[in-house]
Amino acid sequence: MNRYSRITGWGMYVPERRLTNFDLEQMVDTSDKWIVERTGIRERRIVGPGETTRTMAVAAARQALAVANLSPRDLDLIIVATSSPDHLLPTVATQIQADLGAEGVPAFALVAGCTGFVYGLVTAHQFIVAGTYERVLVIGAETISKAVNWEDRTTCVLFGDGAGAVVVEATQTPGGMLAFELGADGTQWDVLMIPAGGVAHPPDHEMIDKKLYTIRMHGRAVFRFATQVMTEATRHVITQAGLTPEDISLLIPHQANLRIIEYAAKKLGFPMDKVMVNIDRYGNTSAASIPIALVEALEQGRIRPGDNIVMVGFGAGLTWGALVWHWQPVVPETEAILVEDWPLPQALQAGLRQVRSRAWNARVALSEKATLALLPLYTWTHKLRKSVSRRFR
Ligand code: COA
Repeated sequence: MNRYSRITGWGMYVPERRLTNFDLEQMVDTSDKWIVERTGIRERRIVGPGETTRTMAVAAARQALAVANLSPRDLDLIIVATSSPDHLLPTVATQIQADLGAEGVPAFALVAGCTGFVYGLVTAHQFIVAGTYERVLVIGAETISKAVNWEDRTTCVLFGDGAGAVVVEATQTPGGMLAFELGADGTQWDVLMIPAGGVAHPPDHEMIDKKLYTIRMHGRAVFRFATQVMTEATRHVITQAGLTPEDISLLIPHQANLRIIEYAAKKLGFPMDKVMVNIDRYGNTSAASIPIALVEALEQGRIRPGDNIVMVGFGAGLTWGALVWHWQPVVPETEAILVEDWPLPQALQAGLRQVRSRAWNARVALSEKATLALLPLYTWTHKLRKSVSRRFR
């Protein structure tokens, strides 16, 4: 019997406190106009007294567990993606485990910058399809406001705090993760970093005086990297899933800069109404940005059963990750098993998907000249697949 992943619960938390661009105008030499034009951000949320990565993660996780109708002790694993844990030691994941009351459940944090949630979801999926675990909680949570130099206008306008979480469960209903790509380019580790506070430069007076415990970033280098990997990784996973952009109903990109998102969407041929954008309200919440956008997309009814969605992120490391997720219909497992055991339409559909996928790849490679020649093949296979799937439904 095949095993698949299914997202059964989701939740998010953002602090009450809003920091607008106009507030920032009072703090550094910047303007609402500059920030909106260059980034698309209008405001971000900043933690209040007593709020940390741990507390926000717990709030998001409780919601996700409630939606999944699970108790914390039902979990087999907790993964927390964050670059801003409450302490260097121990991992914030065990603090979250204790607060949730998930006694005995293994818990770890992973650091992959803003790509952390995609890395975490892929990791959860691996444990599930391997048959190791049945229910995994994946959290992306960040308090980047504590790692920002509030006198540096080139970084402080970009980031915000928040958390998002999903429960991933094993299912026999086909779907879930159709394809993924994880990547890293360690040669660019220093374009987005915190220079001191780790063992390479332990805390000292210089660290305090020069604020070396805050984020340093080469904005343009990150911009170049982001536009390239977002476009390529998205293309790769769509192809790998045997799909074309027309089959994707929603693109959920990491919310770092509206210009990066628009550039990638244009290159990929995605109209902006198929792209989830909430950067205007939250800024860049790092590893929390994709799960927060996912939760809002679900709440707004922008993801329906049967939809294929893409999540794509990039961040410090430098790292990137993309995945295609098929949102399974909520049907009893027995019905799903029947469909799965019916080999003819499945095989036929897989074959047709491959044909369409190859046609799409060829179109990309041959560029605009070949596009017109191949379009009819596309349309034909698309129509054929639709009519075949209708017949066998
Ligand atoms: N307000 C006003 N002016 C600002 C400013 C601010 N907040 N920040 C920078 N500037 C100035 C610069 O000093 C520079 O001035 P100069 O021309 O006199 O030297 C000018 O604006 C242009 O700076 P530049 O860095 O070229 O701007 P940009 O168009 O590249 O935009 C970023 C800067 C940071 C918005 C953009 O590079 C970016 O988004 N990069 C990716 C960052 C990112 O996503 N990081 C997180 C990854 S997970």
